[in-house]
Amino acid sequence: MLENTGSETEASLFIVGCGDIGLRVAALEQSAGRSVAALARSEASSQTLAQRGIKIVLGDLDQPKTLRNLPVEGSVVYYFAPPPPEGFDDTRLAAFLAALDQQALPRRVVYISTSGVYGDCNGAWVDETWPRNPRSDRGRRRAAAESRLLAWCPASGVDSVVLRVPGIYGPGRLPVERIRRGVPVVRVEDSPWSNRIHADDLANACFLAARSNGAGGIYNASDGNPTTMTDYFNHVADFLGLPRPPAISMEEARTTLGPGILSFLEESKRLDNRRLREELGLVLRYPDIASGLEKCNW
Ligand SMILES: NC(=O)c1ccc[n+]([C@@H]2O[C@H](COP(=O)([O-])OP(=O)(O)OC[C@H]3O[C@@H](n4cnc5c(N)ncnc54)[C@H](OP(=O)(O)O)[C@@H]3O)[C@@H](O)[C@H]2O)c1
Repeated sequence: MLENTGSETEASLFIVGCGDIGLRVAALEQSAGRSVAALARSEASSQTLAQRGIKIVLGDLDQPKTLRNLPVEGSVVYYFAPPPPEGFDDTRLAAFLAALDQQALPRRVVYISTSGVYGDCNGAWVDETWPRNPRSDRGRRRAAAESRLLAWCPASGVDSVVLRVPGIYGPGRLPVERIRRGVPVVRVEDSPWSNRIHADDLANACFLAARSNGAGGIYNASDGNPTTMTDYFNHVADFLGLPRPPAISMEEARTTLGPGILSFLEESKRLDNRRLREELGLVLRYPDIASGLEKCNW
């Protein structure tokens, strides 16, 4: 394992959780002439980052002692790591914040949260003032993470921007296997409203969030064109040239689909993305599924 020396890895941008979205954001930043450093917890992720010209800082958010000399002073931190898979808190975010040197804090944290923090909204249009009411443990961990960040940042003199993100789709992240396996969907009339954003539009939103004047802002980061989940799977199946998934009633779904899928089916909302477009200034390249799928190679 490499030792983090701090000086070797100094950069104005630091990505925590540099997976699919992190790599897209890193590419945008590099195109804008910025150098990027990122946390990596494994040899495999280190290699991927090195190949992209990203400076590597070794550390595992699940092992707080490994988080040393993080090169964040005066920088923008993109925090994209998910909470751990269990529990009601985000111990990873807690470990990251605790590892920061109070004399060398970042300037801003751009945090990817999820629209799951709103819970079920009975299909209502939901803007950022809608009360958080997560109903899944996954949503509760996210709400806990948001609360922690939104308390820590002002107390530490650090700006924050929170993006509440629904389902991300794009090249390499279509539900191909699920559709090939013929996993059923809930028939259209029972299907909840769901929301999405194309991975490249989300990366652009993060890039803008790092630069916006809207410090402290919370933004629904969706394409603004919610449809039913069933409509999404049908669109993807048509795009892939595969048979559309069989449709079942919600009652049947409750007995046949797994708890993971069901937790998404029990939440219905339509995300209002006006602030994302008008305040953050995001011009969506893919404002709906059809335009997003058109450019997806998979
Ligand atoms: N999938 C969706 O539709 C969706 C919807 C809303 C929000 N989100 C959230 O959006 C964010 C970005 O998504 P993404 O697709 O870019 O995720 P991703 O590709 O899975 O990347 C997550 C990154 O976090 C890193 N990470 C996880 N646990 C870590 C730990 N203990 N220590 C250090 N690094 C750790 C992973 O490292 P390794 O490479 O070593 O695994 C990976 O690089 C995530 O928080 C995700 O939960 C996703």
